[in-house]
Amino acid sequence: MCYDECEDIMFTLAVLTVSTSGFHGQREDTSGRVIQNILGPPVYRLMHYEVVPDELDLIADRLRRWADEDRVDLIVTTGGTGLAPTDVTPEACLSVIEREVPGFAEAMRSKTIEKTPMAMLSRSVAGVRGSTLMVTLPGNPRGVSECLDVIISVLPHALELLNDQATGHPE
Ligand code: MTE
Repeated sequence: MCYDECEDIMFTLAVLTVSTSGFHGQREDTSGRVIQNILGPPVYRLMHYEVVPDELDLIADRLRRWADEDRVDLIVTTGGTGLAPTDVTPEACLSVIEREVPGFAEAMRSKTIEKTPMAMLSRSVAGVRGSTLMVTLPGNPRGVSECLDVIISVLPHALELLNDQATGHPE
């Protein structure tokens, strides 16, 4: 099955930018826009977009709510994956997922490390809650686009599997 040809498939998307300065309007959210530009129609339909500060409970609340109440297919976060004491996005994601999908973060780090060794500083994680897939990306807009580039071709099959809609193994 070739996903380039699956124009009738549409998944719902939520984008969560985690940035205390962005939340206070001190920084423009370029990374959130990059995600929306890359994951756009006809495959993805934006359902939620929000900027929240680096607060574990707030991040976890949004992830939980979008998964449980809105049943969003894919949640992509950006920011807060590094080593600063305030970086808690991976912990928030891990606190709400039921199953980790380590391959996404493994692939993003190992592939993009060829572009910048800084990639090893992102503690990105990915996982599943109910039928929602969550992926945490680094905050740097270039990092966002490099990481999405690595996983974008695999996302539709992952989302189909989660929704029990896979018709077979992809080629
Ligand atoms: N990954 C890629 N592909 N490209 C990047 O530029 N930046 C790194 C890393 N991952 C980067 C990347 C840097 S400098 C940091 S500090 C970590 O992501 C964590 O970033 P965050 O705290 O903004 O999420």
